[in-house]
Amino acid sequence: MTKIKNFFLTTTIYYINDVPHIGHAYTTIAADILARFHRLLGEKTFFLTGLDENSQKTVLAAEKSGQDLRTYTDDLAKIWETTWKKLGITNDDFIRTTQVRHKKVVTDFFQKVLDNGDVYKSKYEGLYCVGHEAFLKESDLDENGFCPDHKTKPEQIAEENYFFRLSKYQEQLLKFYKENPDFVLPHQRFNEVVKFVESGLQDISVTRASQKWGIPAPNDPKQVIYVWFDALINYLSAEPPLWPADLHLIGKDITRFHAVIWPAMLLSAGYPLPKQIFAHGFFTVDGTKISKSLGNAIDPVKISQDYGNDSLRYFLFHEFPFGNDGDFSFDRLKEVYNSDLANGLGNLVSRVARLAENLSLPGVEFPEKPLLDSAFRIHLENLEFLEALEYVWGKIRKTDKEIEKSKPWELAKENPEKAKAAVENLIRQIVEIDELLLCFLPETAEKIKDQFSQDKIKSSAPLFPRRG
Ligand code: MSP
Repeated sequence: MTKIKNFFLTTTIYYINDVPHIGHAYTTIAADILARFHRLLGEKTFFLTGLDENSQKTVLAAEKSGQDLRTYTDDLAKIWETTWKKLGITNDDFIRTTQVRHKKVVTDFFQKVLDNGDVYKSKYEGLYCVGHEAFLKESDLDENGFCPDHKTKPEQIAEENYFFRLSKYQEQLLKFYKENPDFVLPHQRFNEVVKFVESGLQDISVTRASQKWGIPAPNDPKQVIYVWFDALINYLSAEPPLWPADLHLIGKDITRFHAVIWPAMLLSAGYPLPKQIFAHGFFTVDGTKISKSLGNAIDPVKISQDYGNDSLRYFLFHEFPFGNDGDFSFDRLKEVYNSDLANGLGNLVSRVARLAENLSLPGVEFPEKPLLDSAFRIHLENLEFLEALEYVWGKIRKTDKEIEKSKPWELAKENPEKAKAAVENLIRQIVEIDELLLCFLPETAEKIKDQFSQDKIKSSAPLFPRRG
């Protein structure tokens, strides 16, 4: 008997100082495409996402909203969870770092690191950026002494807290990187990580004496565990425990936390390391960085209401290669929608349905377990979303050409049997295309299946009505 493969995949867990924007949706939809793909391959797939709630940002946002922390976090958590539901995300668990199950795992983990002698008390003095939830160096700041990403002045912190011996793991990490050359993808990001570790690791402070919101350190409950130390452990708190993860999907901004600190923490606590980390690029909106103050944080639900979930999915992963940076614009969205979805896929499906209807052709059976062409499969195994989509659209164009060439409407006049055979062949191609749409455009794939598996195929309203 062949053993069923497990596939455990995670997204970043998001801060809840605000509602989700399109950048967060990008990571979550990418994970959803992969989760659906691995389920289609017959793998026992587990897709975890959730929220990072024990941050100072949460405290500040709750204060601003005038709500108490509990009400604020519960309200925001509902918004995030509902957003993913509206976008058709198929996560298997939704972790919140304020949940008891997570707190327990974090406390046990911290205890293991303590027992291993990797935590010591020391004095910390430095510049803390709440936006980053990390200490910054003078050299990280702009000429006015501000954090260049958050445009805020970091706080000067001086306190006694507990440090994690990150430096102890430098050689072990470098050895692991060498033995696992695909641990971080794209390779360019991995090279940056290796260079950073080679340049020398310093111990990091992993508790906060001055904060109250967070998980108490088991050795000194007056201090709370550093939010990043706490948040990374979410990957272990999922139920059932499936560790190690096959893939952590993250944005490139947080590569070091995942590729350096997290593996060192795991080595210290005695857990195996995750198999792979993929750090995707960032996109701008109309050429500008997404930021709250600029008010250009686009609501993914709004786009899905205007264009549909599948159009958003197609657009996000068709615009630029996964791993690269790119740009989002409404003009491009409309352009791509009209050319690739309305005129491309939508038009092909309508044409074939109309031809089938004119010849009174019966519907066909769709395979229970899709075969998925190997070229497409390889692209998705390598997280080449754009290339996978191009492969499918290549098939769409090819089928369109076949219609032009075989001209079934002319054949129907002289040789109805030949016309039927030609259209049946086109229907087979639609079935093949449909299989390949299952993970990218699941709602559309379902509609096409419904339309082409009826007793008699009928034409229907366009899948993607053109936008003027
Ligand atoms: N809470 C931490 C992560 C802890 S993981 C153990 C965090 N949260 S966040 O809310 O700031 O989310 C950051 C993530 O959102 C990025 O890593 C990326 O996945 C996604 N994105 C946010 N803005 C983005 C873009 N403009 N473009 C693409 N992805 C973006 O960091």
